[in-house]
Amino acid sequence: MKNTKIAGIGFYVPEKVVTNNDLTKVMDTSDEWIQERTGIKERRYAEKHKESTSTLGAKAAAIAIERAGITAADVDFIIFATLSPDYYFPGCAVLLQRQLGMQGIGALDIRNQCSGFVYGLSIADQFVKTGMYKNVLLVGSEVHSYGIDFSTKGRNVTVIFGDGAGAVVLQPTEDSTSGILSTHLHADGDYAEKLAYINPGCHSGVHLGTEQFGYPEQEFGGAFLTEKMWEDGNYYPNMEGQAVFKMAVQKFPEVIMEALQTNGLQPTDIDMLIPHQANLRISQFVQKRLGLRDDQVWNNIQKYGNTTAASIPIALCEAWEAGKIKEGDLVCMAAFGSGFTWGSALIKW
Ligand SMILES: CC(C)(COP(=O)(O)OP(=O)(O)OC[C@H]1O[C@@H](n2cnc3c(N)ncnc32)[C@H](O)[C@@H]1OP(=O)(O)O)[C@@H](O)C(=O)NCCC(=O)NCCS
Repeated sequence: MKNTKIAGIGFYVPEKVVTNNDLTKVMDTSDEWIQERTGIKERRYAEKHKESTSTLGAKAAAIAIERAGITAADVDFIIFATLSPDYYFPGCAVLLQRQLGMQGIGALDIRNQCSGFVYGLSIADQFVKTGMYKNVLLVGSEVHSYGIDFSTKGRNVTVIFGDGAGAVVLQPTEDSTSGILSTHLHADGDYAEKLAYINPGCHSGVHLGTEQFGYPEQEFGGAFLTEKMWEDGNYYPNMEGQAVFKMAVQKFPEVIMEALQTNGLQPTDIDMLIPHQANLRISQFVQKRLGLRDDQVWNNIQKYGNTTAASIPIALCEAWEAGKIKEGDLVCMAAFGSGFTWGSALIKW
């Protein structure tokens, strides 16, 4: 079996910059609070009526395809990771496929939130290794800004998230010592509602119980967004920030060590760690726990916020464009997020 390499990489973020001070105009928050708790200074927002998750993804994909030295016609499978799809269904992979003129090939959407890119990388790796596909396009893209609560009620979630997209083209490599060395995927559904976008959804209160869910008398119907939910403004993502933080700082180091140990390596062997950009404080905690130097970790959450499935490919691409990832380097990617899901991947570049 052949190893899988990243043959091309690209990212795209919308032009509109939204600073912490901009957010203070619509909700009760402050630049100081946001920077102190998350490290975020600004984020990008998509342009309404012109941009969406699939269009951002298509822009990043076009760059990755060109850098891989192929054309869209050479791509033989698409994987699209997002939690903010253009439509409830169908998924974004077919919309991106249409935009790039790649009709006919398989197109898969995955719903693994912040771990989406690592999960996608693992899926692509299996297809390439077995020889089924030669050019797999993997995209992580999000437009959070269309679906978050800009009132003070939603501030703990809204200040964190931003829009953007990243993409890679994966190909087989003849060199058995380079490319993806291993991927490690985990999840624990006990925590499903700790970071979730529950309404509208086709659940009718079944998981939490209608009482606990807050709508005991409700007749669910239509898109399962009821009039009462609308009146309550209960149609936004919710997050128990401290529960997320606590698990993230445990699972990030654990899953990075799992990848290293599988390959007989140590944290000192890592040339570049690309952590999912959840929160700068989480990344700093992980860096300290693993004893990594500043030049071994790439963080860009300060500029883009948390872009969920897009955060790893954006950070990876930035680090590569800055010349901080070179041939032969050991690159570790790790993610944790809603589900809870978490994972890691180790690549010899
Ligand atoms: C979200 C997070 C920054 C909140 O920080 P925290 O220290 O846990 O803050 P808390 O939720 O306990 O809230 C503390 C106070 O700040 C307030 N607050 C919350 N968001 C705020 C905001 N954006 N601006 C100002 N105040 C805010 C709360 O209302 C609360 O006020 P109170 O003490 O008067 O009740 C933090 O929990 C976190 O980073 N969690 C991980 C989130 C994450 O990584 N998510 C992505 C996962 S992929």
